[in-house]
Amino acid sequence: MDRIRIQGGLPLKGRIPISGAKNAVLPLMAASLLTQETLLLDNVPDLADIATLSTLLAQHGVEIQSTPGNGLSGGRLALTAREIANTTAPYDLVRKMRASVLVLGPLVARFGKARVSLPGGCAIGTRPVDLHLKGLEALGAHIELDAGYIEASAPRGLKGAEIIFPQVSVGATENILMAATLAKGESLLVNAAREPEVADLARCLVGMGAGIEGIGTGTLRVQGVDELYGTSHRVVPDRIEIGTYAMAVAITGGEAELVGARFDLIGAVATLLGEAGVAVWATEDGLGVARGNGRLIGVDVMTEPFPGFPTDLQAQIMTLMSVAEGASMITETIFENRFMHVPELGRMGANINVHGASAMVRGVGALKGAQVMATDLRASVSLVLAGLAAAGETIVNRVYHLDRGYERLEAKLAACGARIERVRNP
Ligand code: UD1
Repeated sequence: MDRIRIQGGLPLKGRIPISGAKNAVLPLMAASLLTQETLLLDNVPDLADIATLSTLLAQHGVEIQSTPGNGLSGGRLALTAREIANTTAPYDLVRKMRASVLVLGPLVARFGKARVSLPGGCAIGTRPVDLHLKGLEALGAHIELDAGYIEASAPRGLKGAEIIFPQVSVGATENILMAATLAKGESLLVNAAREPEVADLARCLVGMGAGIEGIGTGTLRVQGVDELYGTSHRVVPDRIEIGTYAMAVAITGGEAELVGARFDLIGAVATLLGEAGVAVWATEDGLGVARGNGRLIGVDVMTEPFPGFPTDLQAQIMTLMSVAEGASMITETIFENRFMHVPELGRMGANINVHGASAMVRGVGALKGAQVMATDLRASVSLVLAGLAAAGETIVNRVYHLDRGYERLEAKLAACGARIERVRNP
């Protein structure tokens, strides 16, 4: 397995291009199942998760043409679901990536049936799909669980309904929103997720001919239509990448421009970074970031649905806080068991104690390079951040997690002066 080797201690300086958002591309790709015409997606990053979903869609019968990006602008995907070869999403593909469950809503809505493997356990918590299933049932689908598969059918089509989500779920909102676009009549999604990736999907669906009001709010009103059409759509920038690189710059005491970054995508993160002594400002091409007067100050963080602080940046902010002055209480409210980076950061000298859903981080003067093991995507990158700041050499093992969600990570960091390289396993 590949590893990443980092010689820490160098400030990041330069320009970092921000890629399109992985978490936006995945539902957008699933949306291609809603129409027989071609959906063109631009600003698509080159990531393992996108390849996994491409494989799944291809086995459903979707024709996919991919044009790679050039490093500065992302790639293009052309997806055409003219006919569908089968409506089964098999275990082998779904278990690789939970987001595969996003094919469920579009398949039932357009073809009246779907058989999708249950995603199963996940390193960062149990992550059930009950909200997806209840929402589809409310739209009139018949759902059964059989031999590890979700069997959904709606032979006479879906019918609009009011769905009140008891808890904010990004994936369930996206699945039900896609399904509702082809349901008969009006649907109301209450307590819908407001994440920018949900709004990006909704805008693309409107481009495909869907009737959606309330985009970007917690209440989405959908007027079902008989048919959707092809369109072209540019994927929103990746706010988790923006936050990750902002923290990388901050932890190394550097200064950089995040090209393509936008304040509206990282409001809560920018505010918190400001309190921690990290300056973030608008530039012509994106956002500038620098550690202000050289000191990092411990601040408390609680993860929340958007517009709150994202759970996908919790591991990274914990790394940053581990070298701040004073203490920081970091509370994870979205996923249980999302502190697996804590013992690894401890190996590098961080002082962190976990009590239930909260971690008390007491800042230490400096981290020390070590061999560490990554457990999930965001935990992996938090260890890279730690390695960039640490004295000496850090080796991050199991980097395949990083390839799921960070496009050209080493290249982007190396271009700003980091000494980072991938060590390929012979
Ligand atoms: C998406 C993101 C992921 C991010 C998460 C929260 C994608 C591909 N992934 O994941 O990176 O960390 O949002 O911002 O966009 N839940 C249920 N029942 C359900 C669905 C969810 O109980 O049917 C719970 C989950 O266990 C979790 C919470 O709801 O505790 C939020 O999960 P959700 O927003 O659905 O996350 P994902 O869409 O899986």
